[in-house]
Amino acid sequence: MPRKKIAARLSPIHGNGVFATEAIRKGERIVRYKGKLRTHDEVDEAYGEIDENGHTFLFTLNDEYVVDANIDGGIARWINHSCKPNCEAVIEENDKGKRHKDKVFIEAIRDIKPGEELTYNYGIVLDEPHTAKAKKLWACLCGSRNCTGTMLQPKR
Ligand SMILES: C[S@@+](CC[C@H](N)C(=O)[O-])C[C@H]1O[C@@H](n2cnc3c(N)ncnc32)[C@H](O)[C@@H]1O
Ligand SMILES: [Zn+2]
Repeated sequence: MPRKKIAARLSPIHGNGVFATEAIRKGERIVRYKGKLRTHDEVDEAYGEIDENGHTFLFTLNDEYVVDANIDGGIARWINHSCKPNCEAVIEENDKGKRHKDKVFIEAIRDIKPGEELTYNYGIVLDEPHTAKAKKLWACLCGSRNCTGTMLQPKR
């Protein structure tokens, strides 16, 4: 992957965020979402309770594995969610079907100027119902005009 054009610092959306330090072109693969590869069961056991506070460094890779960026996480773990994102998370599936070798990359979906915060839609859908309480727990502060007020996405 080419040299990184990003840096982490405080964000107006939440905590730390990741910002472009140089212009990034639409379609550019910016950074890999790194972390320890764990099964869903391992992660549930480790964070079952903690994950219920609406803060997560977990990325669901596929129905077997989760990337746990609490351990060995890289800069991508600081990228915030937005209802009007400039990036997307793309899962590259291993061509031999080895699911533990699937990878996640963050890619630009439009040109991004230096100084702009990078965001993607986390696409969070809970197993349980999206009650008003759950939506509030996962409240979105992205500030975009079309902000839905929650990071939870409609169930299909
Ligand atoms: C992967 S971390 C992103 C880095 C985070 N800003 C931090 O400093 O820890 C994901 C967590 O950041 C918070 N977050 C990210 N995007 C948000 C948003 N649009 N509105 C509110 N909180 C957000 C949520 O707590 C979410 O679970
Ligand atoms: Zn929002």
